[in-house]
Amino acid sequence: MTETHVEAQSVYPPAPEFAANANATEALYEQAEADRLAFWAEQANRLAWDTPFTDVLDWSDAPFAKWFVGGKLNVAYNCVDRHVEAGNGDRVAIHWVGEPVDDARSITYAELKDEVCRAANTLADLGLRSGDRVAIYMPMVPEAIIAMLACARLGAMHSVVFAGFSASALKARIEDAQAKLVITSDGQYRRGAAVSLKEGVDEAIAGLGDDSPVEHVLVVRRTGIDTPWTDGRDKWWDETVPNASTEHTPEAFDSEHPLFLLYTSGTTGKPKGIMHTSGGYLTQSSYTHHNVFDIKPETDVYWCTADIGWVTGHTYIVYGPLSNGVTQVVYEGTPASPNEHRHFEIIEKYGVSIYYTAPTLVRTFMKWGRQIPAEHDLSSLRLLGSVGEPINPEAWRWYRMAFGADKTPIVDTWWQTETGAIMISPLPGVTECKPGSAMRPLPGISAKIVDDDGNELAPQPDHGEHVTGYLVLDKPWPSMLRGIWGDDERFKETYWSRFAEQGWYFAGDGARYGTDGEIWVLGRIDDVMNISGHRISTAEVESALVGHSGVAEAAVVGATDEHTGQAICAFVILKSSAHGGEKNMVDELRAEVAREISPIAKPREIHVVPELPKTRSGKIMRRLLRDVAEGRELGDTSTLVDPSVFEAIRASK
Ligand code: WTA
Repeated sequence: MTETHVEAQSVYPPAPEFAANANATEALYEQAEADRLAFWAEQANRLAWDTPFTDVLDWSDAPFAKWFVGGKLNVAYNCVDRHVEAGNGDRVAIHWVGEPVDDARSITYAELKDEVCRAANTLADLGLRSGDRVAIYMPMVPEAIIAMLACARLGAMHSVVFAGFSASALKARIEDAQAKLVITSDGQYRRGAAVSLKEGVDEAIAGLGDDSPVEHVLVVRRTGIDTPWTDGRDKWWDETVPNASTEHTPEAFDSEHPLFLLYTSGTTGKPKGIMHTSGGYLTQSSYTHHNVFDIKPETDVYWCTADIGWVTGHTYIVYGPLSNGVTQVVYEGTPASPNEHRHFEIIEKYGVSIYYTAPTLVRTFMKWGRQIPAEHDLSSLRLLGSVGEPINPEAWRWYRMAFGADKTPIVDTWWQTETGAIMISPLPGVTECKPGSAMRPLPGISAKIVDDDGNELAPQPDHGEHVTGYLVLDKPWPSMLRGIWGDDERFKETYWSRFAEQGWYFAGDGARYGTDGEIWVLGRIDDVMNISGHRISTAEVESALVGHSGVAEAAVVGATDEHTGQAICAFVILKSSAHGGEKNMVDELRAEVAREISPIAKPREIHVVPELPKTRSGKIMRRLLRDVAEGRELGDTSTLVDPSVFEAIRASK
């Protein structure tokens, strides 16, 4: 694999004032290097354990790890009660900002504790027990976070399903996890309009028929729109939770007690239920949040713009920030509602000091122009973060300039749903950053870039041809996934088979080393696409397309897109009966994908083609389709059965 990348030479060292007060110093690397497990034990002991652990790591059953063996803790206690007991009950935990302007609510840690206890008591009354699964399908309202913490408090696993996903995606996730309870809201605001969510829940449950595992649906009244109702099964949150007691004794669970499932796209059409457990996940979430974001809970106002439907929302809205007792902003709406000033107004109003977002949003702000941030006082910002895809150097520099007065450090954080927490990132008071590079593994974390045979690549100069290797994690880490729900074989096959001999985890990303040995992550090299930071597999979209009665065959590729990172390009062969109204068909297919998966999975382009390029063994050559989608000269076509198919494909563009 070779690629040409040109990037700026400039290096950004931390400002001396920042470095002088930073939580993390160079010593953290030395300490982790000296004794990795002792280092992690020390990080784990930042948490409150009911029973101390006896061993740091048991890797004897690899790739199934056990961290902090023998320890017991309650995750919700660590995120809430602990801060109240330490005398910080009056500190604001969440400044919640609704999508409608002036819809806002601030919740202190003491209030959050009462709410979580009430919700936990309510869920227990609804029959929920430790080990049960709960699907949460909600907009960004405080109740979503309260519901997650209430599950954690009871030892039940939450499976948060992004509220932008379709009823059919929700159904598949409820079914796979066998969720007993669904927590949702009547509706959600989308750019000013209230749209139903509960209808989707009803559709999902109806689709499961007599086999539905769902006993109850707990519904938060958010928009007040008309809501279909099933008596007995459905309960209003505001008619149950407020009546419950604020007293609830948290039970201590084993460090390896499951905490949550989060479904993510893999290389097949079936989403994987990524499983995380308690002690290790919370340790690394808390440690990375403290050090990468340089959190000072007494003074900082932190804002992560992710949705709780994704892992970033789990780790850096719920478990990381709350375990560290920080004050944070949680915003319900989109950046353009009611206009493009919204994020900047929020930063200004709440004095946000740490802002964590995705490159795709930075590029959107760039498109809107410098004058928008320039109209606001953003001087409270002292640290910026990026996650979800490689951030292009131009966007990096613009972000620092427009948001950070060209002074603030930027932490470009590489991690995955599977890693649970940040793995590769600068430390803001230590690292000299190169825009576009996530730099080095954090203290305690080990990663390598290797070739096909597992040999480590050498550092490469900044200009010219680059050799791309595989990004691997060669040592277990506390917040690593503990498996794929119900499918141990798939877990081993997906992550641990590529470098089975060495016992390494293969992340699915391509990467290279830069001149100074820093890591440049180049993106997925499997069949997973990254659309605005959302993971969508080619197989999922293909299966939605061929699900349509007019489609005979479909092939999907991710093509480079200036705005969304990658965009979905589909090539379809129609059944003879469906020929004729091709334009209508394309519109219909885009709608079908939105219905089956989510509007975020709608292809940017659908090409109706007479044939797909295949090898003699019948494999679709996606590499060639990617060449077509990106308007490049075709690569090697010698293995194609019929090289002339490309003329027909080109003609269809
Ligand atoms: C990509 C999101 C480059 C990568 C936390 C990874 C990144 C996938 C970065 C995981 C980054 C995430 N630089 N690429 N800073 N952060 N990625 O599971 O391809 O939604 O494998 O987790 O996003 O996406 P996921």
